[in-house]
Amino acid sequence: MSSFLNFFLLTLFISIFLLSTVSLATPNPRPFKKVYVFGDSYTDTGNTNDSTGPAVFRHVSALPYGRTFFRRSTNRYSDGRLFIDFVAESLNLPYFPPYLNKTADTTHGVNFAVGGCTTIPISFYIKNNSTLAAVPQSLPTQLTWFKDHIKGSGCKDIVSTPAQCRAVFDGALVWIGEISANDYTNIYGTNVSSKTIQKLAVMYQTKVLKELLKMGAKYVVVQGLPATGCFPLSFALVSPTAELDDVGCVAMKNKESYDHNMALQAKLHHLRTEFPSAMIVYGDDWHAYREVYANAAKYGFVERFKTCCGSGGGAYNFVPSPLRTCGAPGTSSCKHPSRFMSWDGLHVTEGLNRVLSKMFLDGAFSQPSFPHLLTKVAESRV
Ligand SMILES: *[C@@H]1O[C@H](CO)[C@@H](O)[C@H](O)[C@H]1NC(C)=O
Ligand SMILES: *[C@@H]1O[C@H](CO)[C@@H](O)[C@H](O)[C@H]1NC(C)=O
Ligand SMILES: *[C@@H]1O[C@H](CO)[C@@H](O)[C@H](O)[C@H]1NC(C)=O
Ligand SMILES: *[C@@H]1O[C@H](CO)[C@@H](O)[C@H](O)[C@H]1NC(C)=O
Ligand SMILES: *[C@@H]1O[C@H](CO)[C@@H](O)[C@H](O)[C@H]1NC(C)=O
Repeated sequence: MSSFLNFFLLTLFISIFLLSTVSLATPNPRPFKKVYVFGDSYTDTGNTNDSTGPAVFRHVSALPYGRTFFRRSTNRYSDGRLFIDFVAESLNLPYFPPYLNKTADTTHGVNFAVGGCTTIPISFYIKNNSTLAAVPQSLPTQLTWFKDHIKGSGCKDIVSTPAQCRAVFDGALVWIGEISANDYTNIYGTNVSSKTIQKLAVMYQTKVLKELLKMGAKYVVVQGLPATGCFPLSFALVSPTAELDDVGCVAMKNKESYDHNMALQAKLHHLRTEFPSAMIVYGDDWHAYREVYANAAKYGFVERFKTCCGSGGGAYNFVPSPLRTCGAPGTSSCKHPSRFMSWDGLHVTEGLNRVLSKMFLDGAFSQPSFPHLLTKVAESRV
């Protein structure tokens, strides 16, 4: 074959390839019109701040929070973008503004997530003498905020007000970010067992999901708990001799979050049967985290357990006191946050958020896969 023909075929091939990718990408640059977001500090884009957020991380309203991307604090618990921000980018939508900012444009979504928030109402923790419960909002509070947000629409439920509810959920994705990690943290030092938390948290989360589905939510993502045993905070709260698992994390905490996710997925399974016209995707964060912790270098990370922004040095560079955590006087942040997985001892860096969100969006750590959900959305439009 002549080199000219080779060149011709190659050009033809590249053109076809480009055309096909363009034609795949162009008809639907925005699969969703808007996203309603729920969750805790892993997903909160600014509903809490220094004075209202989780007690141990009291310096979120100033640099170095936000230093990597926004170059100022946006009250996100990271050095930059969160998982949900990368999701917004991939859906071609602006970042979802916090519900409590009443001047923000909510055309393309609104974020109800609250840093430090629990799934079980706060009264439970107060009754049981929890000293760590501090943030008054819970997941049911976020549902109340959502109902307040859509009040003007007249949507009550899909049976009695179908047209109104269709308007609310038309082209909408409902995103329930990671939640319940604070529920397990709050029972530290109390008589409440983690089995009780699992039962109640999954019950409340299922209740909230069910209400949203009854209102007409059609496309829903539910993120499971991360591998909580891998965070510096977990190492700080257990004895130095606590058993570690195969990736070097606190075994008991990773089992706790794994068991929680199993119970949650069982409920999701029931909801899929009960609401067959809805599509519920599970975000398997737990396995995604574990994959990255087990192969950190492959994903570009040098430090797995050492906190980028903290104090105290040593293996974790983390002290769980508001006087010693990221942003407190005398603390500092590392030179290259993108090489660290942990930002402040509990929350992760933008670098890790980028990796984890990609794993979800590509489909390997979402069930059914997120690309499959996007295909269904596209099909529903033709
Ligand atoms: C923190 O959030 C609360 C509740 O939304 C708000 O009232 C307060 O003004 C905020 N404080 C700062 C410093 O932004
Ligand atoms: C609220 O949103 C507006 C509009 O996006 C923005 O200009 C303002 O800075 C936000 N307020 C806070 C406290 O973040
Ligand atoms: C809470 O603490 C008080 C005082 O120490 C004690 O009497 C009570 O039994 C505790 N409550 C629970 C639910 O353990
Ligand atoms: C745990 O239970 C014991 C026995 O009922 C009680 O004395 C104690 O106050 C409880 N602890 C907390 C933190 O409530
Ligand atoms: C905690 O409080 C609830 C009531 O809010 C109660 O049902 C439960 O038994 C309490 N104690 C424990 C140890 O869970």
